[in-house]
Amino acid sequence: MSDLHDRWVAERHNEYYYKLAKKLDYRSRASFKLLQIDDRFGIFKEGQSVVDLGACPGGWSQVAKERVGEDGTVIGVDLRYIHPLEGVSFIIGDITDDNTMIRLLDMVGGKVDVVLSDMAPNIAGAYSMDHARSVELCMYAVDVCDRILKNHGKLVTKVFMGDLLEGYLDELRKRFENVYVHSPKASRPTSSEVYVISTNFLGAHNVKPKKLVREEVKAEFSAKGGNF
Ligand SMILES: C[S@@+](CC[C@H](N)C(=O)[O-])C[C@H]1O[C@@H](n2cnc3c(N)ncnc32)[C@H](O)[C@@H]1O
Repeated sequence: MSDLHDRWVAERHNEYYYKLAKKLDYRSRASFKLLQIDDRFGIFKEGQSVVDLGACPGGWSQVAKERVGEDGTVIGVDLRYIHPLEGVSFIIGDITDDNTMIRLLDMVGGKVDVVLSDMAPNIAGAYSMDHARSVELCMYAVDVCDRILKNHGKLVTKVFMGDLLEGYLDELRKRFENVYVHSPKASRPTSSEVYVISTNFLGAHNVKPKKLVREEVKAEFSAKGGNF
């Protein structure tokens, strides 16, 4: 009975945000989560630069672009192709792959004000594995911050709740003055996801991001019998 009730509530909730997204011309229901997070935590300012990891189909990038305005920049990254969006640049690639990271660093060409990650792993079905992979993706977003987030910058990540969450929050607390765990109204009430909002980046203290290796260098190295 309570399961049925939960499902009914979740379906109503999905339908509500689905219709609203259609009406307001947003590419995803997820847009409302970021709008609500921004309204509450003040993530964006006009003219800022934003990196959006796991950007497909583009709902968060739309919101980010709206909020940073014409003078702001938004770069989205995803494994999947994203239909063009005015004023936003996209990179198709896997952020866990050095080449994608290198392309992102090249495209940014400096530092950014905000890093977003709504990345989610393909759901394997075994919750502890999905949770671990979600935390792993979040750590890649942290790696992006260590490389290119400005001091005082902000990071928003989605993470599936579980026993590795505390360790992840500890990593964030080493780098950011404030770390908040939050569930926006637009998240399904029964969802296992939460959003972590980290503000006032203090720099990648005592953390040296791993050296990135370009694919052609890897290929050359392998041809000589080396192993990465
Ligand atoms: C929930 S969707 C993002 C929705 C998006 N925020 C929006 O509002 O339209 C999660 C995305 O993360 C992407 N993703 C997962 N792993 C990734 C990775 N390693 N590199 C880049 N993108 C990844 C998936 O392809 C998927 O499109």
